[in-house]
Amino acid sequence: MSASKHTTRITAPALRARKGGEPIVCLTAYTAPTARLLDPHVDLLLVGDSLGMVVYGFDSTLAVTLDLMIAHGAAVVRGTERACVVVDLPFGSYQESPQVAFRAASRVLAETGAQAVKLEGGAEMAETVAFLTSRGVPVMGHVGLLPQSVNALGGYKAVGRDPAAAERILADARAIAEAGAFSLVIEGTMEPLARRITEEVAVPTIGIGASPACDGQVLVTDDMLGLFSDFTPKFVKRFADLGPAIAEAAAGYAAEVKARQFPGPEHCFGVKKG
Ligand code: KIV
Repeated sequence: MSASKHTTRITAPALRARKGGEPIVCLTAYTAPTARLLDPHVDLLLVGDSLGMVVYGFDSTLAVTLDLMIAHGAAVVRGTERACVVVDLPFGSYQESPQVAFRAASRVLAETGAQAVKLEGGAEMAETVAFLTSRGVPVMGHVGLLPQSVNALGGYKAVGRDPAAAERILADARAIAEAGAFSLVIEGTMEPLARRITEEVAVPTIGIGASPACDGQVLVTDDMLGLFSDFTPKFVKRFADLGPAIAEAAAGYAAEVKARQFPGPEHCFGVKKG
């Protein structure tokens, strides 16, 4: 058997082993060119179903299909060589039964070359996580604020404010970790709850709107690059402000096209230098 070009990739078990160690750096990626730029700097690239909102302009993640996730997952794998690539299972592709989840997850791994899948949910998904992980599918869990349950939650508000809710989310995290997930995203919880989950579960926690105590952090790349001009959620830090730079470039291009300054002779074929 010849050595695969993927042998240097960070694997799910390697990330699992980083519990309590150097923080795990994660970002989302949906396309090959962006993934290529991020790859040297991150441990994990998440092909999140947030692509429904970020790339396709939907109001929620609910309209995202398995085929869409597979197309974007494969693009991200093609654009990378180092990061562990994890692909979200979209709404409706895994909740029905462990068998349905296995069919979706096996398509993702086979058709994208990604290392793992992620699914949302707590104790009610533990049986599915155990089914997948015992059949060769590394699974990342996702507890706390669950965007795929936006209709049941009534909006995107931070969760775990009252003690009973916090205990339920802690129990969810424990159940998913004990079922065999290699890592857990904690999204949109009160900070002390995320800290406590991180202390109490044996697998690395990856926070978004959670706590600096988590074993790693994830952000939606477009958010941290400042590609949106509207509302910035409290948990997002903009590490760049690319939105205005893109608008400025488009305005400059438009002005030069209208003034017939672009294309110049240097951009044309068969024009002699004068
Ligand atoms: O879909 C996504 O991008 C996610 C992250 C926000 C964790 O699930």
